[in-house]
Amino acid sequence: MFPPASTAPAFNIFNAETIMGVLAAAAATNHPIYLQTSASTVRTFSPPALAGIVNALLPLNLRPLVRLHLDHCSDPDLIRACLDAGWHSVMIDASADPLPLNIRRTSEIVALAKPYKALVEGEIGVVGGEEDGFESYGAPDAIPQLHDVLSFIDNSGADLIAVGAGTRHGHYSDHPCSLHHHILEAVHLARPSTPLVLHGGTGIPLPDVARAVRSGGIRKLNISTALKDAWLSSQQAHLASSNPHRVIDGVQNSIAAVRDSALTVIHFLSSLQ
Ligand code: 13P
Repeated sequence: MFPPASTAPAFNIFNAETIMGVLAAAAATNHPIYLQTSASTVRTFSPPALAGIVNALLPLNLRPLVRLHLDHCSDPDLIRACLDAGWHSVMIDASADPLPLNIRRTSEIVALAKPYKALVEGEIGVVGGEEDGFESYGAPDAIPQLHDVLSFIDNSGADLIAVGAGTRHGHYSDHPCSLHHHILEAVHLARPSTPLVLHGGTGIPLPDVARAVRSGGIRKLNISTALKDAWLSSQQAHLASSNPHRVIDGVQNSIAAVRDSALTVIHFLSSLQ
């Protein structure tokens, strides 16, 4: 089932409320999702503890729909620890390295992940903004060349390929998103069976997401900031409420807010099929 033929959202979770909110959205829609963890989140809990929390909160009937995925990570030791703890899918982000080194480091993780039957995501190019200490503000000329992307696909062995195509992590507050469809579409034309990944999913105009899914081979859409916004807003509303010491009300509201935010994404992606 993974990677699914349709596009699965990958939601960054960072506590029990976000895990429960995202799982509630998956349960309500029967849609495959990646439950995605940043390296910082993993280090905060420890891999076995975080896997234990996820497993405790993940009902048996949802297990085929959910993959636990490690987001941007450049540390092979942490990747190994996650694989040992039961992650189904890991990202090695060596995109800041020159292409030959990126290919070598990615293929080493592919070899590492093989006995675990885990998927590996690699990245080529630049995703703007900042996610967990990774990446810088992308410049338009940072869009990778087609032949480099194809070489990365062919030689790294990665199962999922993130291509820097003009998106950025976080809000597009100072300039609008400009997604360079031509590179995604050229890659998809040349390697139609390779699932591509779009990072920086929050705030990409919906027509761009639709085109990237339909014509650009995007099969995994990463969403983090939208869930953080939903969680933060619900926390702020609770703090401003008449009885903030009823903390469990705040917890329940946060789960519902994250669920609704995740549902919006899932419903949009489902509408494209
Ligand atoms: P956003 O924070 O822009 O949604 O991006 C998430 C992401 O790409 C995680 O890797």
